[in-house]
Amino acid sequence: MTQKTNALNKKDTSWSGRFNEPVAELVKKYTASVGFDYRLAKYDIQGSIAHAQMLGAQKIISAEDVKLIEQGLNEILQEIETGQFEWLLDLEDVHLNIEKRLTDKIGDAGKRLHTGRSRNDQVATDVRLWLREVNTQVIGALKQLQSSLLALAENHFDTVMPGFTHLQVAQPVTFGHHLMAYIEMLKRDVSRFQDCHKRINRLPLGAAALAGTSYPIDREMVANNLGFDGVCENSLDAVSDRDFAIEFTFASSLVMMHLSRLSEELILWSSPRFAFVDIADRFCTGSSIMPQKKNPDVPELVRGKTGRVYGHLMALLTLMKGQPLAYNKDNQEDKEPLFDTADTLLVTLQIYADMMRGITANKAKMRQAASEGFATATDLADYLVKKGMPFRDAHEAVALAVRYAVDQQVDLSDLPLEKLQEFAAEIGEDVYAVLTLEGSLNSRNHIGGTAPTQVKAAITRAKKAL
Ligand code: ARG
Repeated sequence: MTQKTNALNKKDTSWSGRFNEPVAELVKKYTASVGFDYRLAKYDIQGSIAHAQMLGAQKIISAEDVKLIEQGLNEILQEIETGQFEWLLDLEDVHLNIEKRLTDKIGDAGKRLHTGRSRNDQVATDVRLWLREVNTQVIGALKQLQSSLLALAENHFDTVMPGFTHLQVAQPVTFGHHLMAYIEMLKRDVSRFQDCHKRINRLPLGAAALAGTSYPIDREMVANNLGFDGVCENSLDAVSDRDFAIEFTFASSLVMMHLSRLSEELILWSSPRFAFVDIADRFCTGSSIMPQKKNPDVPELVRGKTGRVYGHLMALLTLMKGQPLAYNKDNQEDKEPLFDTADTLLVTLQIYADMMRGITANKAKMRQAASEGFATATDLADYLVKKGMPFRDAHEAVALAVRYAVDQQVDLSDLPLEKLQEFAAEIGEDVYAVLTLEGSLNSRNHIGGTAPTQVKAAITRAKKAL
């Protein structure tokens, strides 16, 4: 009896009528999501207003109620945005906090808002509204990064550097060409988020708890009102689907992977052993013990945070794998990984765009590295092929020449003609044009090749596409 009265007196939740004792304090803390889902408030209110307007249009609630609800919710939004709103753990989540405040403000009209709706379709709608906006921001941030990379590539469309395979000097490329490889990755990233938008932008509302609702609702109206492309077509799927969140996190993981690779290169290149680039001081820190150091903290953190985003992808996939239809409380665990993915990605993209503007290339060092690693050996082999030698024989002849040059500690282009002719009689005076870095670059003159004219053309195409 006492317990019952307690529960009734408490009346702190919208479902407490059924319960004989209040929820344990620790359980309240464990199950509440308001500590993180308050971020959805704006979208919750947007969704509620659209829902109320539909209820009004369908004569499920009165026009007077709709007016009160709209006014009340707009006031609550103000309170939230100005930091006056008091979030209560007792009220579990963003939805119940806002609904309770609305009811305190406008009475019975507030209690009618939840007609034909459940928190299950409500939260799915909120997350989609929020993510739709974030997704657009991500696309914008990716384009910003592309444009700062393009500016750097443009400055260095003909700057020679060694291209690597196995991190061994392979063939000369231009720094611009190297940077343009990342433009390709980012272009694919943009298209992945654009594609993701299609599946985010569907309306779950109307699914109610899981089976739909017996009120004569108009889901299309709500979808139109909220800018969705259409409605989720199965109520069970509508409340339980989190594919769109996983897709977003996957697309984010790929972006982070791309940036982690570029970070790894910046870390190597900025090491004095390479000294290819200098990263502006504002992106680096010093060491508290070693005064000579300038550490590439930002690229290192990007590389580190990539693991964190992958973790969120794993968390979300694992979250979903064992769930029977339809909504389960497990789904509440979708938010923190998703929020953190978005936060991490957006700030990373922003800082990266700025950091690329602060990269200075050391052309002399890049050039020196390209000339030291026999980067034009393939060009010599190709030269011999053009003189009629089969490629495998040409490869062998050049390998022997390289071995000789290594022993002598000189470059191929330093060997006198007579010496080169010992390896292949076909070699003539014109070989030296082939052995130069510029000769090598210019000869790769086709779409996708590293010839500076091609790099310039690729930059122009990418700029136009932006
Ligand atoms: N806070 C919940 C979540 O984030 C809202 C939905 C709650 N639904 C329920 N039946 N308990 O998923």
